[in-house]
Amino acid sequence: MPQVQTRERQLEYTDEVAEATEHIWPKVEGSIPRFEWEMKAPLIAEINRLKEERDAVILGHNYQVPEIFHGVSDFTGDSLGLAQQARDADAEYIVFCGVHFMAETAAIVNPDRTVLIPDLEAGCSLSESITVEEVRDLKAKYPDAPVVCYMNTPADIKAESDICCTSANAKAVVESLGSDRVIFLPDQYLAENVASQTDVEIVTTDGKCIVHEQFTADQIRAYRKQYPGIEVVAHPECSPEVCEEADFVGSTSGMIGHLDEAESDRVIMVTECSMSDNVQEAHPDLELVKPCTLCPHMKKITLEKTLKSLQEIQHRVEVPPEIREPALESVERMLDVGRS
Ligand code: 13P
Ligand code: SF4
Repeated sequence: MPQVQTRERQLEYTDEVAEATEHIWPKVEGSIPRFEWEMKAPLIAEINRLKEERDAVILGHNYQVPEIFHGVSDFTGDSLGLAQQARDADAEYIVFCGVHFMAETAAIVNPDRTVLIPDLEAGCSLSESITVEEVRDLKAKYPDAPVVCYMNTPADIKAESDICCTSANAKAVVESLGSDRVIFLPDQYLAENVASQTDVEIVTTDGKCIVHEQFTADQIRAYRKQYPGIEVVAHPECSPEVCEEADFVGSTSGMIGHLDEAESDRVIMVTECSMSDNVQEAHPDLELVKPCTLCPHMKKITLEKTLKSLQEIQHRVEVPPEIREPALESVERMLDVGRS
C-alpha cells in the first residue's frame, strides 16, 4: 500500500481516502499514472480535510499541476479571475497555489484574511525584472504618461503605478486612461502586442517571461507543417511574431474558453504545459498538442508544501499599509475595468 510520511502522521491510500478522492481521479487519469495517484490521493484527502478544519480556501492558477488544479483548488483561473476570487473570499485563510505576486495581490485586495503561499520562492521573471527606481525614472522622463503595470509585479511597483492590468484586459486598461501615451511595464512583449492593437503610444521596459519568450514563430510554423489544420492558441506574453502566427491570443482563462469554439479537433496551446493537462478531461475530443514548457516558479508549489502550509499556517504574505493602500487603488481601478 503506498504510504506518504508527513510531519504529523503517515498518510496511506486507505478505503476512506479512495472514497474521498474517487470523484477527482477521472479528471487526472490522463496525466497521472495510477501508482502515483495512490501516493497523491492521501495528501489530497488530508489537504481537503484540513481546509475545512482551518476554514481555508485554496485558489489555484491555471498553470498548477493537475493534482492541485483538480484535487484541492476551490477556485481555479487566470490572474484576474483569482484576484476577483481573493477579493470576495470570506474564509479565514486564503492559500494561494500560484506565484508570489498573485498571493500578494490577494493580500492587497483582502487584508482581512490571512493569505498563505506554500513556497515563498515561487517568483516570476517578469515580477523580478523591474525596480521602483526604474519606474520613477520613467515617470520623470514622461511626466504626462500614466503608468500601467502588469499584474506580474511586486506590490511596491503597483503602488507606484496608476493602474494595474492583466493579460485579460491590457488593451482595455490602456485605452481606459484617455491618454495618447502610457508607460506600460514590465513585459516588453505584452506591451508590443497591445501597441499593435491601439493608437495609444506605449513606452515599455524589457522584461520577459522565461516560459513564453522561448517560443518562436519558426516553431509555430513547424507545428503547422507537422499537424496540418492545427489551431494555434497563444498567450500574449509570447513575442509579437508568435502572436501573429496564432489563431487566437488571450489570457490563460481566455485560451481555455477558446477551446469551446475551436474550429479544429487539434489545438496547440502556446503556453505553460500543465494547462493542457488540466483542460484535457473537459475536452475529450480535442487533441491537445503540448510544447512541454514548464514554469519553474509555478512548479515550486506541490501537494506536500500545500499540506504543510495548512498544518503550520505558513508562509504568510503581508503587504505593509503604506504600500498596500496605493497598490490597492491601482488594482481596484483595474477591477473596475474588468475583463475585456
Ligand atoms: P494569466 O493572467 O493569463 O493567468 O497569466 C499569468 C501568467 O503568469 C502567465 O504567464
Ligand atoms: Fe511569471 Fe512566466 Fe511563470 Fe507566468 S509563466 S509566473 S509570467 S515566469
